[in-house]
Amino acid sequence: MIKESDLKVLFDSNLIQQEITKLGQTLNKTYGDEEVYLICVLKGSVMFMVDLSKHLKMPVKMEFIRLSSYGSNFASSGKVNAVDISLPDLNGKNVLIIEDIIDTGHTAKFLVDFINLNFKVTDLKFCSLLDKRVKREVDIDADYYCFEVDDKFLVGYGLDYDGYYRNIPYIGYVEV
Ligand code: IMP
Ligand code: MG
Repeated sequence: MIKESDLKVLFDSNLIQQEITKLGQTLNKTYGDEEVYLICVLKGSVMFMVDLSKHLKMPVKMEFIRLSSYGSNFASSGKVNAVDISLPDLNGKNVLIIEDIIDTGHTAKFLVDFINLNFKVTDLKFCSLLDKRVKREVDIDADYYCFEVDDKFLVGYGLDYDGYYRNIPYIGYVEV
């Protein structure tokens, strides 16, 4: 079990909020007055979704789906488990997927493929707080992200270790 005192701070709360504010401004410029469906990928993206959405000025609807790919270890399984993926009719809508982190990219690819298979959306963009690009196994990129990160196991601000530490307001890491 990791202790919170073992965590090293990678991004503190102020820096996270600064970057989210900037991203919100970018999205406001991009979408203007157009309506956007935000799709929050639970559970990890909940903090990011809540904080980012407060900066958005266009009409938004919030949807929450639940996918999982990590077990209780430090490595992505590469398999995506759709725990609850019920979505409204997204045909003709602008859709913005909100993720905490893109690691191997399997989760992101699964979700983009799922939406494209089931709906003819007007626009589909992928927004991730963190981009762990060095770990990518499939060809997918975030349209928007706040921080690029190294190959470290991160916790906090939604990211968990065995379900814990999602609530801490900064992003920390443990050496494995
Ligand atoms: P991917 O399918 O490998 O891209 O993994 C994506 C999911 O794995 C993310 O949505 C996270 O929930 C989880 N994940 C990836 N890296 C980390 C990490 O460093 N800490 C905690 N969870 C992670
Ligand atoms: Mg996630």
